[in-house]
Amino acid sequence: MLGVVVTGLLLAGCAAPPPPASTPAVSPVVAAPDDPWVADARGIAASVPPRLLATLKQEIDRGGPEGAIAACREQAPALARAASAESGWAVRRVSLRERNPKALPDAWERGVLAEFDRIAAARGTAAPIEHAEVVATPDGKRERRYMRALPTQELCLACHGARASLSAGVTERLRTLYPADRAVDYRVGEIRGAMTLRQPIP
Ligand code: HEC
Repeated sequence: MLGVVVTGLLLAGCAAPPPPASTPAVSPVVAAPDDPWVADARGIAASVPPRLLATLKQEIDRGGPEGAIAACREQAPALARAASAESGWAVRRVSLRERNPKALPDAWERGVLAEFDRIAAARGTAAPIEHAEVVATPDGKRERRYMRALPTQELCLACHGARASLSAGVTERLRTLYPADRAVDYRVGEIRGAMTLRQPIP
């Protein structure tokens, strides 16, 4: 389905309600696998966003969303770097409509993000959406890849909501720091991006 698939698993949170009968079919949603590497990746991917959220909230309380932009810019990559160093997984964030040009997804990530969008639209749920797969690399090796969706929440809208709704201060900061910004006009529940993890298999 996506790239060169050796083992493919598509998972969504089991807390999600079953889709109503009228919902268009989404890709197979299977039970969470017990592969230890998937659990390992899930733990790391799930631990970074709450830490970033805590910093964001703190900074918004202190200096408003405008003041929190700097924290996001520095803390997000710092937390990803720390998680990478601790875990042996390469950890970063990607988006189909990126703010930081470094957050560009590769072809495999693009396919998974499109799938996340379809699942979120069909199910309208905030339950975790994730994808784990062992993928062949161009040099004939294999690597483990894991992605976990980052849904847009109310709090995100101050910096990712409708362009016209952003404060003048936020608009100005974003224009200066991210002239090619595409990460606006999101609504609550839409997938803003994802944590993405990869690890070579020796
Ligand atoms: C205070 C403003 C602000 C808020 C609030 C905010 N973000 Fe962001 N977001 C940013 C900035 C600035 C960047 C670019 C960071 C960088 O340069 O790495 C960013 C980048 C991202 C990225 C990385 C991909 C990209 O487009 O560069 C994701 C994913 C993301 N935000 C998700 C969220 C989610 C989900 C929320 C709510 C829980 C949220 N953000 C709330 C300012 C914000």
